[in-house]
Amino acid sequence: MREFIMYSSKGATAPEFFLKDLPGSGGRMDLVARCVISALWLSRDMRRDSRIVFSLNGPPDPPLAISFDGGELERVSPDERNISIWIKKTLKQRKDVGGDWLETHKGIQISRKSFWNLLEERKDKNLYILQEEGDDIREVKPRGEDIFVLGDHIGLPENGKFAEKFGAKRISVGPESYFSSQSISIVHNELDRRGV
Ligand SMILES: C[S@@+](CC[C@H](N)C(=O)[O-])C[C@H]1O[C@@H](n2cnc3c(N)ncnc32)[C@H](O)[C@@H]1O
Repeated sequence: MREFIMYSSKGATAPEFFLKDLPGSGGRMDLVARCVISALWLSRDMRRDSRIVFSLNGPPDPPLAISFDGGELERVSPDERNISIWIKKTLKQRKDVGGDWLETHKGIQISRKSFWNLLEERKDKNLYILQEEGDDIREVKPRGEDIFVLGDHIGLPENGKFAEKFGAKRISVGPESYFSSQSISIVHNELDRRGV
């Protein structure tokens, strides 16, 4: 299972954002939706072995975490509008949720887990923090069962300095600063090439 954890500093934590204004009213929900697409879809298929969890930290009710699991997902299509509709539906159930995962639709879950909770729970795995100044992914050679953590347009909290606390390594996917969704595609591509 390939797993991505994305930190969204401003991502909406209530469903009252507009599909016509995902960047403004949704706290960059366009970016979150693009990450979901890059994490879970290929041109003609779904990546059934992949999951993405995004940590939403914008107003009015943070933190919330939502996961989309490619192995389970049904009736969701790879476009920003459709993904955002499912996120809105999921956020409607936020009042019913605590620290455990609640399934709101096949393959979609929501929880009150914070970004730190998500990392803490995966401390026994190989955690890789995606950062421009990290070690080259081609040297590090991560595997498909590892966990990849990335930031949004603002970056990661504490500028990624939390890495050591969780025994995580920083890795770079290339010489430029890429969009979050592009970084996910590059990780997939590197793992695909090595067949891991
Ligand atoms: C648009 S970048 C964030 C830029 C932000 N201004 C910063 O200083 O972090 C979005 C996320 O993509 C990932 N990313 C972008 N370029 C990368 C690279 N070359 N190597 C590894 N991760 C990268 C990082 O996780 C980053 O937080």
